[in-house]
Amino acid sequence: MSDNNVQIFDTTLRDGEQVPGCKLNTKQKLVIAEQLENLGVDVIEAGFPVSSPGDFKSVEEISKLIKHTTVCGLTRAVENDIKVAAEALKYAKYPRIHTGIGTSASHIKYKFNSNQGAILERAFEAVKFAKSFVEDVEFYAEDAGRTDNEFLARVCEMAIKAGATVLNIPDTTGYCLPSEYGAKIKYLKENVKGIEKAILSCHCHNDLGLATANSIEGVINGARQIECTINGIGERAGNTALEEVVMVLKQHPYLNLDTNIKTPHLYGISQLVSESMGIYTQPNKAIVGANAFAHSSGIHQDGVIKNRATYEIIDPKDVGVTESAIVLTARSGRAALAYRAKNVGYELTKLQLDDVYANFLDFADQKKEINDQDIHQIIETSKVYQQIITA
Ligand code: KIV
Ligand code: ZN
Repeated sequence: MSDNNVQIFDTTLRDGEQVPGCKLNTKQKLVIAEQLENLGVDVIEAGFPVSSPGDFKSVEEISKLIKHTTVCGLTRAVENDIKVAAEALKYAKYPRIHTGIGTSASHIKYKFNSNQGAILERAFEAVKFAKSFVEDVEFYAEDAGRTDNEFLARVCEMAIKAGATVLNIPDTTGYCLPSEYGAKIKYLKENVKGIEKAILSCHCHNDLGLATANSIEGVINGARQIECTINGIGERAGNTALEEVVMVLKQHPYLNLDTNIKTPHLYGISQLVSESMGIYTQPNKAIVGANAFAHSSGIHQDGVIKNRATYEIIDPKDVGVTESAIVLTARSGRAALAYRAKNVGYELTKLQLDDVYANFLDFADQKKEINDQDIHQIIETSKVYQQIITA
């Protein structure tokens, strides 16, 4: 891995699957895991093996199926969780145990009724125990986003001392501002002894709609892994959307950060996950929403027809979308109507277009969107129809 490579850790099958009512069965998980491997993710977090026999089985089956990608299982800092995860991962070519504990003042007080010293000890013991099963151990400091940086640095040092290879810094509640999250990563890079032995990982939730921005700030400040889900699914407001962070890095090459993702697979896997889980993505969702490459206002349509780059920063084919859509509504202009009419077989002169356009506006005021069938009807009922068909 080069210094500029950002590892993509996909947690669609673990954190993403925590969406209420969207549980996947093992068969569905295997189909998604295979497509994640084809997409080029570096790590698949396959589940939380101790949580249920079903999750254990899914992690075990995914471990058998996946050939080149690291397969990861989540645990708490609890011996039995770690033992069970190691058992579920035993067939994986590249197994990783992801263990950790809450580190913020509120987690220490209310979840554990404990103190910082005891948390440091549990972090150390958990990583050490996980290391007795696998070489690759990732440690998470839950609620790191609200954890005091000085204490967080001490927790990270403990985890490194016990052998952690990756340090996950979750903004569990999606609270941080991008500048704050970036500064946290920078602080850890500069103040944790032994930090060169591990990579820092961003795990940002989207409660304030900042998950993508926070993850990008994280990697700009030295993190080299992003934890994310397809379509940004996850409990509450979800996780960082994989397709967003990958395309931000791709569209800004001067950041000099790249990933191993084959971006033309993005749209297909987005559809697969939304259909398998029964969660439909909002039409205006960045990169994969139905309207992400659709143009509806006259000014935009005219620009895109002349040159796609006037209103599009991404070539749709780059993310697996066949082409941009020129959507006909009452806000569309003559250029869009001429373009769509040509696509269904009518080459209109300027005068013919004026007449057909007047007819089109009457139709479009009655209907939200004009489809190809409507275009035939609009042309057939226009005054100039005879000229058009005899031309
Ligand atoms: O959001 C979080 O803190 C998590 C950890 C369990 C990694 O998902
Ligand atoms: Zn999470």
